[in-house]
Amino acid sequence: MKKPLKIATIGGGSSYTPEIVAGFISRYQDVPIKELWLVDIEAGREKLEIVGALARRMVEKAGVPMQIHLTMDREEALKDADFVTTQLRVGLLDARIQDERIPLSHGAIGQETNGFGGFMKALRTIPVVLEIAKEMERLCPNAWLINFSNPSSMVTEAVHRHSSIKCIGLCNVPIGMQRSVGEVIGDEDFFIHFLGMNHYVWGKHIYHQGREITQEILPKIIEHESTKSVVKNLKPIVWNKEFVQQLGMLPCPYHRYYYMQDDILHEELESFKDGKTRAEVVRGVEEALFEIYKNPELNEKPAELEQRGGAHYSDAACGLIRAIYTNSQEIMVVNMPNNGTIGILPDDAIIETSAMITSFGPVSLKASPLPAPAQAEILLMKTFERLTIEAAVKKDYNIAIQALTINPLTKHGAMTRVIFNELLQAHKPHLSGWQI
Ligand code: G6P
Repeated sequence: MKKPLKIATIGGGSSYTPEIVAGFISRYQDVPIKELWLVDIEAGREKLEIVGALARRMVEKAGVPMQIHLTMDREEALKDADFVTTQLRVGLLDARIQDERIPLSHGAIGQETNGFGGFMKALRTIPVVLEIAKEMERLCPNAWLINFSNPSSMVTEAVHRHSSIKCIGLCNVPIGMQRSVGEVIGDEDFFIHFLGMNHYVWGKHIYHQGREITQEILPKIIEHESTKSVVKNLKPIVWNKEFVQQLGMLPCPYHRYYYMQDDILHEELESFKDGKTRAEVVRGVEEALFEIYKNPELNEKPAELEQRGGAHYSDAACGLIRAIYTNSQEIMVVNMPNNGTIGILPDDAIIETSAMITSFGPVSLKASPLPAPAQAEILLMKTFERLTIEAAVKKDYNIAIQALTINPLTKHGAMTRVIFNELLQAHKPHLSGWQI
């Protein structure tokens, strides 16, 4: 009999919390969580109390003896935890609105995890998650850190390179891609071998009933995804069929920022003019969600949560915790050290790939090499990520500029510095140590 678990969720006041609570409840038989600690900062107190009360009602309705603790004291929550999950947003939604609106006001893509938005989010988030990892080294050195904070790959890599904490990064995009492919195939007897980086991952091979079907299924999947989006925060994608067929792999929905940059910019500028960037839409969704959460009769995850891009993220987070705890050795898609999986990248680079999950952590599957163009792209994107991590840790302006100058979404000549300087000013309260 293993000991019952203590879990700490940092950013517990998030509107996503009912998602993770529902995920733990449904897996309770396999993963007996005794204590779930929802942690937030003072500014998130009101939300934490609302969502915490809902979590308690959900647990009571399910009849599982999981204690829900609400706290602003992170150390109390981390002490002797077995798993720590992060779903925090430094600077809250206001910061995301700036990340999206400032670049767009200069005609550059504004996106939460890609381009300037993802870059600024990394500068704000990495120091905070590293602080949490340091606290974990003291308070729960053997715990797993399951990171869901964006940009997931950069945050996970920062933890691997700057602390001794075991950390796995997650994303719900591969789950969305699997659902989408399942809808096209029409049964569950298939397997997608994922390879790439977070929000830059490809379905490298798709197998069905004992044979590879990647090339023949790609046009059907593309057709399907032109009417139905893979994740709610991104619109359906009208890919160029010949291009994807030539690529020979299934691109993820975020690839459209790179493969269809001008089309997306045009679309985003329209939303920007209407005051409806994704962050602004999410603000409305969040307000409505918290009103729903306040209802004392509500005792389950409401369907309205499906409007968020991270819907179903508990399938990844809680599923991974179960797989580690039970040593299930099932295959999941995780952000983990490369260790030779993608030949062109360093061993300590974090990649997103299919891996067998053991109680010791993920063991990646051997993959055939990426096609030459994809190898070039991924080396560039990983170099951008590594420079960004270095800039975030050293708080170094010149390294930041170097990163921004190689990313195709942020490389805009003299305008790159103009946008970056404006973003630095806007985010000054969340960038301690930077000379602004
Ligand atoms: C996707 C991504 C997440 C991202 C989310 C945004 O699912 O995988 O990394 O955070 O959507 O959703 P939102 O509803 O906040 O725009």
